[in-house]
Amino acid sequence: MKGVILAGGSGTRLHPLTRITNKHLLPIYDRPMVTYAIEALVGAGVTELMLVTGGTHAGEFFRLLGNGHEWGIDRLFYAYQEKPGGIAEALGLTERYVERDQVVVMLADNVLESSLRGPVDNFRAQEHGARILLAREDDPEHLRHLGVPELDGDGRVTRIVEKPEQPPSAFAVTGIYFYDETVWDVLPTLQPSGRGELEITDVNNWYVERGEMEYDVLDGFWGDAGESIDAYYAVNDFVRGSRA
Ligand code: TTP
Repeated sequence: MKGVILAGGSGTRLHPLTRITNKHLLPIYDRPMVTYAIEALVGAGVTELMLVTGGTHAGEFFRLLGNGHEWGIDRLFYAYQEKPGGIAEALGLTERYVERDQVVVMLADNVLESSLRGPVDNFRAQEHGARILLAREDDPEHLRHLGVPELDGDGRVTRIVEKPEQPPSAFAVTGIYFYDETVWDVLPTLQPSGRGELEITDVNNWYVERGEMEYDVLDGFWGDAGESIDAYYAVNDFVRGSRA
């Protein structure tokens, strides 16, 4: 299984911090944000990675990560996204790296408490389709800012709704996604959304419609450090607390 870490985007919700650096280089406790995604993937045995970034600070990732060996990565590849055209567009840049392999994609602003080992093993055993990781979220106000799955009586995902006024479940779709090789057929069919981006939710709903979307529910803390300045500090507090 290949790993992809997405560290492009514009990070407007963390302005003005992200006017002067890339969001994923900001500190989370004692090291840059992107290193937590690396740690999660490497810890789950995914040691061949491509990092996608963009903007004016892309070179800093070389300085931080180099060839990746210091971070437990066997082979590290880089791709440059010319404009922040969306998560699905960033993923498209990795096609010739991933080829027909399975891929796990992680947004570089996500921080997890639990190991990815179980979900990675589950996806290795999955014959085809996609897999997402859900996190329990009981606050409907928070869910209104996230992607939320609707589940049927058997617990299967029937659709994923972005920023729902009425959240259809008490779960958030986290920024960790698993895909088989059909993802490369879906990406070219996407149309830009109202905000002008190629949306990963459209990719996920394509798999949902074909009945090929599975999921795991994450235990423990999950945070999206790019969601707001308060979320950024909540993630910092969690990491600092877990090291104490
Ligand atoms: P978002 O948080 O949706 O977008 P953003 O980082 O541009 O932030 P904001 O909405 O505050 O402007 O993206 C989640 C992650 O996806 C982000 O941390 C990095 C990755 N990403 C890319 O790699 N390329 C992109 O074009 C976008 C939009 C996001």
